[in-house]
Amino acid sequence: MPHERFRFKDRATLERKIAELGRDIPLSDDISVLFSHVVVARRVLPNRFMVLPMEGADGDAAGCPSALTLRRYRCFAEGGACLIWFEATAVTADGRSNPRQLWISPETKDGFKRLVKETRLAAHRRFGPDHNLLLVLQLTHSGRFSKPDGRPAPVIAQHNPLLDSRLGLSTDHPLISDSRLDALQDDYVAAAGFAKEAGFDGVDVKACHGYLVSELLAAFGRTDSRYGGSFENRTRFLEETAEKIKLRVRGLFVTSRLSVYDALPFPYGFGVNRENPEVPDLSEPKKLIRRLRNIDFPLLNISLGIPAYRSHFGRPYDKPLIGQDLPDEHPLVGVARWLKLTSEIQKAFPTLPVVSAGYSWLRQHFPHVAAAMVERENASLIGLGRAALAYPGWVNALSADGFLEPSKVCVSCSKCSQMLRAGGPVGCPVHDAEAYQDEYRDARKRAKQALRTERKTSRAAGKKKRRKD
Ligand SMILES: Cc1cc2nc3c(=O)[nH]c(=O)nc-3n(C[C@H](O)[C@H](O)[C@H](O)COP(=O)(O)O)c2cc1C
Repeated sequence: MPHERFRFKDRATLERKIAELGRDIPLSDDISVLFSHVVVARRVLPNRFMVLPMEGADGDAAGCPSALTLRRYRCFAEGGACLIWFEATAVTADGRSNPRQLWISPETKDGFKRLVKETRLAAHRRFGPDHNLLLVLQLTHSGRFSKPDGRPAPVIAQHNPLLDSRLGLSTDHPLISDSRLDALQDDYVAAAGFAKEAGFDGVDVKACHGYLVSELLAAFGRTDSRYGGSFENRTRFLEETAEKIKLRVRGLFVTSRLSVYDALPFPYGFGVNRENPEVPDLSEPKKLIRRLRNIDFPLLNISLGIPAYRSHFGRPYDKPLIGQDLPDEHPLVGVARWLKLTSEIQKAFPTLPVVSAGYSWLRQHFPHVAAAMVERENASLIGLGRAALAYPGWVNALSADGFLEPSKVCVSCSKCSQMLRAGGPVGCPVHDAEAYQDEYRDARKRAKQALRTERKTSRAAGKKKRRKD
């Protein structure tokens, strides 16, 4: 099933391809279910759409939202989605993924207050004061992907040869200590307190994509630690932190974006079959979700894959990042994987609203797949990531016209991912060229330069080795 670029102008061709690939990707003619109400955290939301967390890397040096950050969220709010899940925001300086990642702290909490206020205002101006808009802030420590000063400064929970080699980590790179993890729980609680002051409705203890909390879930090899080995120990950080937030920060709900399938081999991945990493095993994720429900999670956002390892798992795309090869997988296989895992979780927890994602590659056809997912009760909310950057007004357009203009949708070109990799700012240079075209050119230049340097270094290393041999 080799990779293929999107070439499905009409639905019939897409449906034929799905059948040819033998995948289960349901489509519904009627998309009205996407505009049905859903109750989340005791609030009645007017539609099923939400914006997924997308790091914008456009904060200032202190981690405060900038004018560009405010613009992004105003656009999302005016676009009509009734839940906005704000991007990965660091809880400590050492856990920032880049020097422009948002960071919530006593110094920046007023900036976040303004961000919340402007986001709500934008929605109320457009839809009236009764418009229910739920705002969730994703809290994170970037763990092995931390780059607070622009250079890698990995904080790791366990060694993982597949990822260590990519970061050039030596086998004696120290692991984060249990006492630091104990203290970090309090950093999350403090950050949640600032989020409450800023006016967010809820916070997410981010546990996906291989960042610190996600790596802990798979820390099978972390021995002699309260945070590794057994299921209880590996899930301790997430559970205890969420519980503390619930108890200490009143009036704010706590939830998580949880990777239910890392697609890394055992003993390095969470939610994988121990014999075959290509096969998910959701028994541990389900066991964990059952416990998180006891902490009153009002909804769950799930994800999969580690972007630094197999980026196409989480983000099926047409074009890879500069210097990367195309995956040997049809993007529809990736979409089907997302839908299958989401459905399995939603079916196991029918009363818990579960967020479904991974739709951007489907372009203008995505609402028909999303509607079928909601109709079959395989998901409660539909989240868009790259497609929301490309076309923040998609909900209004669908509500007014019943369809999406193909010329306006995301083309899964990976330019936003490229911009993030270059350290930001992140946006859609294709559909929001005025704001982001120059930034993208700069990111592309830097990526090509880095690739040239990398190739030169590896050629020189090869020559040296041949001389030695
Ligand atoms: C540029 C970029 C930034 C992202 N930042 C985050 C983030 O901060 N937190 C998160 O959980 N996922 C993040 N993601 C993943 C998206 O939320 C989403 O899961 C993924 O893009 C798949 O959805 P899509 O097909 O609609 O894009 C990011 C993805 C991209 C491309």
